[in-house]
Amino acid sequence: MSLTSFTLHGRDGAARTGVISTPRGEIRTPAFMPVGTAATVKAMLPENVRATGADILLGNTYHLMLRPGAERVARLGGLHKFMNWERPILTDSGGFQVMSLSGLRKLTEEGVTFKSHIDGSKHMLSPESSMEIQRLLGSDIVMCFDECPALPADRKRIEQSMRLSMRWAQRSRDAFGDRPGHMLFGIQQGGLEEDLRGESAEALTSIGFDGYAVGGLAVGEGQEAMFKVLDFAPGQLPEDKPRYLMGVGKPDDIVGAVKRGIDMMDCVLPSRSGRTGQAWTRHGMVNIKNARHQDDPRPLDEHCSCPACRSYSRAYLHHVYRAGEMISGMLLTWHNLHYYQELMQGMRDAIASGTFAAFEEQFHTQRAEGDI
Ligand code: GUN
Ligand code: ZN
Repeated sequence: MSLTSFTLHGRDGAARTGVISTPRGEIRTPAFMPVGTAATVKAMLPENVRATGADILLGNTYHLMLRPGAERVARLGGLHKFMNWERPILTDSGGFQVMSLSGLRKLTEEGVTFKSHIDGSKHMLSPESSMEIQRLLGSDIVMCFDECPALPADRKRIEQSMRLSMRWAQRSRDAFGDRPGHMLFGIQQGGLEEDLRGESAEALTSIGFDGYAVGGLAVGEGQEAMFKVLDFAPGQLPEDKPRYLMGVGKPDDIVGAVKRGIDMMDCVLPSRSGRTGQAWTRHGMVNIKNARHQDDPRPLDEHCSCPACRSYSRAYLHHVYRAGEMISGMLLTWHNLHYYQELMQGMRDAIASGTFAAFEEQFHTQRAEGDI
């Protein structure tokens, strides 16, 4: 018997709901994964992240290899123990972060050499070293080592990059080996091109993975172009395995992705924007720094049960943001993560009961009303 599994419990159109089982716990899908890049979801205690409804966090190979180092995390008992989160962790493989964050870098067939954005020190990442780092961290869901261009990019560049990533996917699979209880996900590339995405999906499927990510999106193409790709990309991937859309997104991106057959997502948006005074609610984005909140005794959202909404006024949230108090980032991050997880639960329930279309319509109607 396998230690991990993916079971679908319901479908509504292309949308699906189910459960990924791992030895560290179940992941209800569609799932939103808060980002814990540096072994912390910034401004949140792990038990509070869990209280928002998160089943799984995302960690980053790139950041953790540079600081504090994967060997050190392993000596200290692995990432779960180190950061005090015992449930599942998915780690991204590093190539994507090297391309967007590091200084000087050089891409070859072997892998990528780069300079740390922290201290300028020189490092190398390859499919083999990325698998080893993710093993040392103790990641439950390991991502293949891949690479992708920012969009727009010309077709030749996208094709060559996708084919390199597919060779790296085979090397990732070989280096990962057989690790019961841990899953390895492939990453589809191919930009906005249906045929290249199809070629990538075939390459990955013939290697065989525990799940499949749609990569190379949310890299500057805009929502309309992204949705066009999501109209065909999930259907190119195996039906019976989880599909993960990497690095997405705003609440309306998430609803549109789930509608098109995506099961998992991650994004820094709810946590990052919580630290810059932005709150996401059913009525859209609320800028708490706006002076219109300074005398407002009402909560951010009277229907929200998070601590920020239960115990504090908009006037208070406005004040602590303006005063630069740490509790500002803490409360808004908590609210945003709570809102995102409630959105996911709402979609899971709607898919299970066959009412996703009504859910989506209500979602858009409430946003059109705006914040009052
Ligand atoms: N995060 C967002 N997009 C991507 C991608 O295409 N590949 C990887 N590894 N991580 C991502
Ligand atoms: Zn709230």
